[in-house]
Amino acid sequence: MIDDVATIRAEAHARIAQASSLDELRTLDVDILGKKGSLSILKSGLARLESIDKKKAAGRVLNEAIAALQAAIESRQRELSLGELDDRIEREAMDLTEYLHAPVRGRAHIVTQAWQRLEDVFIGMGFQIAEGPEVETDWHNFEALNMPPSHPARSMHDTFYVDHGSPGSTVLRTHTSPVQIRVMHSTKPPIYQVMPGRVFRNETTDSTHLAVFHQIEGLVIDKGITLADLAGTIDAFTKAFFGSDFGSRLRPSYFPFTEPSAEFDIRTPDGSWLELGGCGMVHPNVLRAGGIDPEEWSGFAFGFGIDRMAKERHGVGDVREMYTNDIRFIEQF
Ligand code: PHE
Repeated sequence: MIDDVATIRAEAHARIAQASSLDELRTLDVDILGKKGSLSILKSGLARLESIDKKKAAGRVLNEAIAALQAAIESRQRELSLGELDDRIEREAMDLTEYLHAPVRGRAHIVTQAWQRLEDVFIGMGFQIAEGPEVETDWHNFEALNMPPSHPARSMHDTFYVDHGSPGSTVLRTHTSPVQIRVMHSTKPPIYQVMPGRVFRNETTDSTHLAVFHQIEGLVIDKGITLADLAGTIDAFTKAFFGSDFGSRLRPSYFPFTEPSAEFDIRTPDGSWLELGGCGMVHPNVLRAGGIDPEEWSGFAFGFGIDRMAKERHGVGDVREMYTNDIRFIEQF
């Protein structure tokens, strides 16, 4: 019996030392010390020993073995659980060091970038910057621009009306042209100003149209201004903004607030034409609405879409992409 205990004890020690996981150790614990374990079986055999002395001696050896193996299992358990903790820490660790660096610097939206570059180019050409309100009177937005209530051109703008004052008297401006009138009222000619801003039209949005977009208006009023000055200014701007390999042309068109009126297109280096905006000589009625004597002064005006320019410059396929604020889109510019 005593020899059996020694053999089992030695074997068990070896198996405990080799256990490589807590699970394996738990199985061993049951095998060795459990009710049906080899030591328990020996223990139940104690009663069959002949003498009290033999029982005592075997019992002592057995108890020592049980205590020693219990201690061995516990100490192996500690070793293994520390090891498993290390593994787990390693496995689940998150690298937080990137949050310790300075935050990544953001940048302006591509429409803001285009807006700022446009201002820079026009300032370089001697223009000043002005802005007007987004909520505008019907008078500034339409009437002063030679579009009386009955004028067919008014229906070209599907307008958002604002519930303010008498019905139909307040609108979200449909273009930046009303700022021409405000500038004429606040500035004595000569006037060389550009007026960027947000405009609103009741449009169904699609890949080339938005209900909220941006325009930049230009107004020049001086003595002896002619259509040649308009064409020359547009061309100088085109080359300064897009590059010297770009060109421009005017195509006859119609706007109630300019006479004559034109669309202006830019020629890209591959020879294709891109429609950019409208322009023309300021209509005498508009000068009068702005408090300027058309006999003494003349001028030209132009207006075009900023979003459209950003779209073309960066080859964006769908204008709506520019306003969904998807970080994967925004980060490209
Ligand atoms: N306001 C016009 C538009 O929104 C553009 C334009 C501006 C045309 C100035 C002529 C002169 O389409």
